Amino acid sequence: MMQLHNLPEAYAKVHLPSKVALAVTGKPDGNYNLITLEWFMRTSIAPPMFAISVGHSRYSHDCLQDVRFFNLVFPSAGQKSLLSLAGSQSGRDIDKFSAGKVLSLPGKLHKLPVLKDAAAVFECEVVSQVKSGDHTIFVGEVKYSWSNPEAEFFYYQ
Ligand SMILES: Cc1cc2nc3c(=O)[nH]c(=O)nc-3n(C[C@H](O)[C@H](O)[C@H](O)COP(=O)(O)O)c2cc1C
Repeated sequence: MMQLHNLPEAYAKVHLPSKVALAVTGKPDGNYNLITLEWFMRTSIAPPMFAISVGHSRYSHDCLQDVRFFNLVFPSAGQKSLLSLAGSQSGRDIDKFSAGKVLSLPGKLHKLPVLKDAAAVFECEVVSQVKSGDHTIFVGEVKYSWSNPEAEFFYYQ
């Protein structure tokens, strides 16, 4: 029977398993960062767009304010440990690309890394943003898309 419940109990029903992605951002010093994201979605067919919601406290938030591009990465089954690393450590403290031994090639849009082992990667330019409580929704227009026929998308449990 449907009952009035508190927020954590209701959230538990909509949380896992879920699609989880990574976003590559550009650090102000020219290096790159990675963040694990559950809060993302497609928002336009033509032009193609994705929105990502990034917490104000995240280093990725600083990066996106500075470098107005991101690569949205759909991970493959082999990338679970990278999702954990990118979702628990901050790019303020570590270089997640070297810590996670990430293999990549330079993207075509702003040269942000395209992860070789991912299932798909969308290179996006930030075209708008809106504050949403303690997060900012960055809307990116897809300029280039990559996919790996051998890789299967991974659902986070
Ligand atoms: C499964 C999972 C999903 C997450 N989803 C989001 C999200 O949608 N938005 C966000 O701001 N942080 C999210 N996080 C938290 C960030 O990934 C985490 O705080 C990360 O360490 C931030 O790194 P940064 O400081 O280098 O940006 C998620 C973490 C996990 C493990």
